[in-house]
Amino acid sequence: MIDYRPLRVALLGAGSVGSQVARLILENKDELAARVGAELQLAGVLVRDKRAARGYGIPAELITTEADQLILGADIVIEVMGGIEPARTYILAALNSGSDVITANKALLATHGSELFDVAEQVGAQLYFEAAVAGAIPIIRPLRESLAGDKVKRIMGIVNGSTNFILDRMDSTGVNLEEAMAEATKLGYLEADPALDVEGYDAAQKAAILASLAFHTEVPLEKVYREGITKVTAAQIAAAKRDGYVIKLLAICEMIPADAENPEDGISVRVYPAMVPLEHPLAAVRGAFNAVFVEAEAAGSLMFYGAGAGGIQTASAVMGDLVSAAKRHVAGGPGLADSVHADLEVLPISRIKTRYQITLEVTDQPGVLAAVANIFAAHNVSIETVEQSSKMIQAESTAWLEIGTHEASDKSLAAVVNELDASAAVEQITSVIRVEGV
Ligand code: NAP
Ligand code: HSE
Repeated sequence: MIDYRPLRVALLGAGSVGSQVARLILENKDELAARVGAELQLAGVLVRDKRAARGYGIPAELITTEADQLILGADIVIEVMGGIEPARTYILAALNSGSDVITANKALLATHGSELFDVAEQVGAQLYFEAAVAGAIPIIRPLRESLAGDKVKRIMGIVNGSTNFILDRMDSTGVNLEEAMAEATKLGYLEADPALDVEGYDAAQKAAILASLAFHTEVPLEKVYREGITKVTAAQIAAAKRDGYVIKLLAICEMIPADAENPEDGISVRVYPAMVPLEHPLAAVRGAFNAVFVEAEAAGSLMFYGAGAGGIQTASAVMGDLVSAAKRHVAGGPGLADSVHADLEVLPISRIKTRYQITLEVTDQPGVLAAVANIFAAHNVSIETVEQSSKMIQAESTAWLEIGTHEASDKSLAAVVNELDASAAVEQITSVIRVEGV
């Protein structure tokens, strides 16, 4: 039954996502009213350029450049403009006026999230952000609500579609990074500044958001360890494939329990390319798709998969938040803040243990393998596998050693790599890459 007054919805932005949100609000008016118990009235759509052509039947009279008037007159504000300012100022104004806010803005949440959440809590409003991580995939609500009574131990996600597309093209066609990037650019997959994708900044922003929800801890973006895919070579991808792995850019959020040397629990939040065994569910994530693999104490392993970007797909997540916000409005009561009570330390990468695969070019002579093995032993890094291949290059027999390690700390591995680099036994270190999901 619809017996509540109409709710005024302000839409900030009418680009790829905003134009689809406007369309869905206008086209599904009756169905949304029935689901919410109140009519959702699109009060206005904020843009920069009022004269630009707008598709999807947004009535011209709704398009505005007057932000203050639109925000202050709204019950619910949807921010799909992107960028830090003026998005931050507009969201703060909306929250301070008592409106619930929905945002898809991962960059803003990762850098100013704590300020926005504090204000929302103070005024009893709610900030929704399902679309900020992995587009259409429901992952924020599962972490915030469905898993709220469980303990998340680890999240391993492919949360950047364009880099997954690039690595997948390199894997399936053998092209190099530049060629795969050119294809991604042509298809419009990369951000206006491609470094946000290929240097891992976008994935790091999403990792910070996921980790803060999963571990009830504020995660400053600068504490997220980040490596992008720009150093991944076609040779590394081919070698991984030969060995039954695929290289993926992973966002990993992990609980690191206390041990004899470290009396406090901590968390690790990190983004880097890593070899993933073909049997792992994340290895099957192809093209520009995203997936988030969650391991929780009681639930076990869960996999969330789907479109991580796209206007209409991302609009689906925004619409889910809109219905939640509108229902909350009708039901009444204050917004519920996310807890950051655990306040765990975000540990530096030097504390993290992973497996590694290292490929070396060495002179094929007696004693070389022993010299290399001694360097690993000296730094307490245990070797699990060694594969050797050799061929004659200019009358000299050259060998390639592919060494797989057991779990080793980043610090020990770095020391091994430094010593290998300086060793007369080693001609060249051709690849050092982590192995995850084993
Ligand atoms: P977009 O296509 O660039 O659209 C941005 C919209 O915001 C445009 O309508 C623009 O107005 C308006 N705008 C920007 N700055 C403004 C300002 N200062 N004042 C008034 N209006 C302003 O962006 P998008 O791709 O829809 O992305 C929106 C948000 O969703 C971003 O935070 C993005 O990270 C997030 N997101 C996007 C996707 C995706 O697949 N696109 C996926 C997940 C999350 P004009 O039209 O007049 O220029
Ligand atoms: N640049 C992002 C990606 C868009 O490639 O996944 C979605 O956030």
